[in-house]
Amino acid sequence: MKKNFAALALAVAMAATLAGCSSSATETEAPETENTEAEAEAAGDSAFAGQTLIMATNAEFPPYEYHDGNEIVGIDVDIARAICEEMGAELEITDIAFDSIIPEIQADKADFGAAGMTVTEDRQSQVDFSDTYATGVQSVIVPEGSEIQTIEDLSGKLIGVQQGTTGDIYASDDFGDENVQRFPKGADAVQALVNGKIDAVIIDNKPAQVFVSENEGLVILETAYAEEEYAIAVKKGNTELLDAINASIASLKESGTLDEIVAKYVTAE
Ligand code: ARG
Repeated sequence: MKKNFAALALAVAMAATLAGCSSSATETEAPETENTEAEAEAAGDSAFAGQTLIMATNAEFPPYEYHDGNEIVGIDVDIARAICEEMGAELEITDIAFDSIIPEIQADKADFGAAGMTVTEDRQSQVDFSDTYATGVQSVIVPEGSEIQTIEDLSGKLIGVQQGTTGDIYASDDFGDENVQRFPKGADAVQALVNGKIDAVIIDNKPAQVFVSENEGLVILETAYAEEEYAIAVKKGNTELLDAINASIASLKESGTLDEIVAKYVTAE
């Protein structure tokens, strides 16, 4: 009884103190009682409510993540935002080299990676992946009129890729390290192609479409080089976050929000 009274007295004292503060401070200090039911339902059970989650990405991959002025935007950003919103968490984005994303997660410097990242066996031994939220296709970009018309024609040619991506890994395996030139960004590889320094670029289809639309004289081969699944990566064993992400992905799929996000960034051909 006495204890309860003391707690009540403290609460009253705090409320009195807060009353003197700015209104925004009052709002953030008293979220529980002021939450609407919907908010409570969305954020209530989440172990991550009120936390800031750090997303590692490489914002050189339109339309999944790219710079728009000072902002990082794209499909993955919107998905991550929607996931965090469901959890009642804040989203913070760290933009790093693509092949630093997994090490950053392993080192606890990021909570998850969202970067149009393909699920591969090798990566699965380093991080845990969420359920997949999109499919990707590795495409081949060549100059218009190129003699490269099929995947086989790539043999002996100089192929540009973004370092550490599946395009890099597959091309190195299939055509030999010496025939693969690695660039920090996909756009750099495309620039080298425009300048005639390399013969082809292997990159995911959606960014390929963006890069081809931004540069004259390039085409995408009709044959796909490889099909893949994109997923969000978390630290191995972080099932709490993984389960929360999977639950959000499922609800974003079911509500149609996922499709809406994709439609916002990908204009139908
Ligand atoms: N899907 C490819 C991979 O996982 C390329 C992803 C590149 N993403 C990026 N944000 N640069 O290797």
